Amino acid sequence: MQVEYSNSTRLLAVIGDPVAHSLSPLLQNTMIRALNRDDLYVAVRVEKGGLPAFLDAAKTLAFRGFNLTMPHKVDVIPFLSAMTPEARKAGSVNSVRLRDGRWEGHSTDGLGFRRALEDRNWTFEDQVVTILGAGGAARSIAMTAADSGAKKVLVVNRTLEKAQALCAEDPVLEAVALEDAEDAAAQTDLLINTTPVGMEGTGQTGSFPFLAALKPDAPAADCVYAPPVTPFMAAAEALGHPTMNGLGMLIYQAIYAYAFFREETFDGDRVTALGALLRRTLEGGSGNA
Ligand code: ATR
Repeated sequence: MQVEYSNSTRLLAVIGDPVAHSLSPLLQNTMIRALNRDDLYVAVRVEKGGLPAFLDAAKTLAFRGFNLTMPHKVDVIPFLSAMTPEARKAGSVNSVRLRDGRWEGHSTDGLGFRRALEDRNWTFEDQVVTILGAGGAARSIAMTAADSGAKKVLVVNRTLEKAQALCAEDPVLEAVALEDAEDAAAQTDLLINTTPVGMEGTGQTGSFPFLAALKPDAPAADCVYAPPVTPFMAAAEALGHPTMNGLGMLIYQAIYAYAFFREETFDGDRVTALGALLRRTLEGGSGNA
């Protein structure tokens, strides 16, 4: 995409390794242009252990902020002067801003997922929510669900200890072993896959036998967005469940991250309009970041 800059342009970045295929530059620069802001967003490959050098450079260059992907989301925490409640609860950070010479961290994954649910008129409130996986994405979503009034959040993971560690943090959360996934499915109002099973390029299609036990009509949402209809979604759709892929989460976490960088609160109409713009941008196929 074409970007504009001036002598007063502030820099933003996504850092990670690998980072070359990140969609963040496309999403963020599209927003920057739509909002007519004097920012420029780039992708920077930063290897594990490279954070201190990047942070020094970013301060020298007066970066406005940056997003983080693998392997930095947890490693960055000791370098931060402040964290939002969302980041503290998630135990990971996907957005950092520079304010008064200090680095502040935030996590927008759970908020982005919740906003994506709203597009479908789905909610965490009063629902039994079951989450597959117990990694970083699962933690962000589980904490957001707990904070948003979920009746119960069941975390199903093949490594039970990881689910138990996650669930120790809030009484609404409950760890479930994979063998007991059918029992969990039978009481589930909203099922969410946060594992990479079915993601393009992983070669894993996975199988989800417990879907047959899912409560009738319960939505099944995947955090994976490539392919657009994931194996998890296809299996749920075959059983008559409504589904959603991870594109909405990707889009809304980016919007909330940009608002955080700018120290602004975007109202609901702005979030909706930007969401529609970013979806058109991604689905229009100009997705080479
Ligand atoms: P993310 O930050 O995207 O959540 P992550 O922290 O690597 O990624 O977590 C991935 C989660 O998916 C983990 O809970 C992992 O299970 P383990 O805790 O047992 O490792 C789960 N996962 C990954 N591949 C899986 C597979 N093939 N089947 C089931 N679960 C899988």
